[in-house]
Amino acid sequence: MKTRSRNLKALIEEKTSHRVLRIVSVAGEVAQEMDYSAYLVGGVVRDLFLGVENLDVDITVEGDGIAFAKKLAEHLSGRVKGITRFGTAIVTLRGGFKVDVATARQEYYERPAALPIVEASSIREDQFRRDFTINAMAIKLNPGEFGKLIDSFGGERDLKKGVVRALHDGSFIDDPTRIFRAVRFSERYQFKIDEWTKKLIKQATDLAMFDELTIERVRDELVLIFSEKNPVRAIKKMAELHELKFIHPRIKFNKQLRKLLGNLKEVLNWFRSSLPKEKPSQWLIYFSALLHKLTVKEARATCQRFHLSRKDEEKVIRSKEGISRKLRHLGKEKLSPSQIYCQLEKLSLESLLVVMARARASRIVSERVSLYLRELRQVKLKVTGDDLKELGLKPGPRFAKILKKALYAKLDGSLKTKRDELNYVKMNISKTPSKA
Ligand code: CTP
Repeated sequence: MKTRSRNLKALIEEKTSHRVLRIVSVAGEVAQEMDYSAYLVGGVVRDLFLGVENLDVDITVEGDGIAFAKKLAEHLSGRVKGITRFGTAIVTLRGGFKVDVATARQEYYERPAALPIVEASSIREDQFRRDFTINAMAIKLNPGEFGKLIDSFGGERDLKKGVVRALHDGSFIDDPTRIFRAVRFSERYQFKIDEWTKKLIKQATDLAMFDELTIERVRDELVLIFSEKNPVRAIKKMAELHELKFIHPRIKFNKQLRKLLGNLKEVLNWFRSSLPKEKPSQWLIYFSALLHKLTVKEARATCQRFHLSRKDEEKVIRSKEGISRKLRHLGKEKLSPSQIYCQLEKLSLESLLVVMARARASRIVSERVSLYLRELRQVKLKVTGDDLKELGLKPGPRFAKILKKALYAKLDGSLKTKRDELNYVKMNISKTPSKA
């Protein structure tokens, strides 16, 4: 295969921040000093062409990557971390900026008899092991050749055509998490997955088994897909490529799920424009929505299989468990604000947004969840625990009960000032039975 090469020095200088430019220039000089070759690789090269900012500086070295990382750290007053036996390391710079360093794949040719092993490392070999052509370009950093593009597999052509294309037949078998990456890049950049690559994905989805270790990487890919700008389209594509079964075999991309996802998109847009300061975890919301038809037991097992944190698992479960009953209750003709509050108060923001998407069919329920999100959950009492202590009440369950009652009264509009609240509390101290 012919390797295209041309120089991107001007593009790098134009599109890259001063900081990154300095780092890559120093990297080139360090490599030169050590008689190595250093290359900028991976997503940062792709994004340079696309004019998208990418601060992940990945450098691959033909030579000893660890020794290079140490020298680079010396030159940039940084520190080397995370050294692995695969020749990778991270150089951390002031302000937390990170540079990932890798050693280009080394090929060992056994010489006959006792002669030493000859090592030949090559950037082309290294690039060939990567996922897609658009991610398999490299830019040489050594001075003199700084900016030289090494594009052995047509990455620039595919970027121009808008195509996600695998590098070889075995790509998805080598690393099945790539079946999700294909969707992620195709959705992010609005690229097509080429037909041959789709066939390889199809073969891989028929065969793929994710062991304990890989499943965490699959989870990380799902988190990234569901955090992208348009997860609904990505989920549709995952369904077309038979990928949803890896989340759970009972997930069906049917009319009901499509509707729920569409509602979710609207709900999130509404929420972001109404309360822009709050940042709900988008991936968790979409993940929860995908599990909405599963039983609580199945959903819990799925969260645990993907090693979600306890907290995230609870959010997923809370957006399912007992929700139909809550929605029925919230649809009743007359409900006071405190009755709405009482139905929703235990739900996290993420669960509330899923519930709101599920409630979309009923205007009254949607409005009530919206009222809760916009106003009710913000209502706080002015009286504090200290006020109650001053009134002679000892902290305990009775304490909490009285405060909750006061909050409900405030939600229903009967307490305006702190004095109102204090009077209400005083009145209730005598009324609320003490178990002690
Ligand atoms: N890579 C790969 N196979 C994977 C993961 C990564 O070949 N399963 C390679 C790709 O060349 C990729 C690079 O490693 O470009 C860096 O991976 P990563 O940081 O996950 O992706 P980026 O391409 O940088 O994309 P993003 O913008 O999402 O960070």
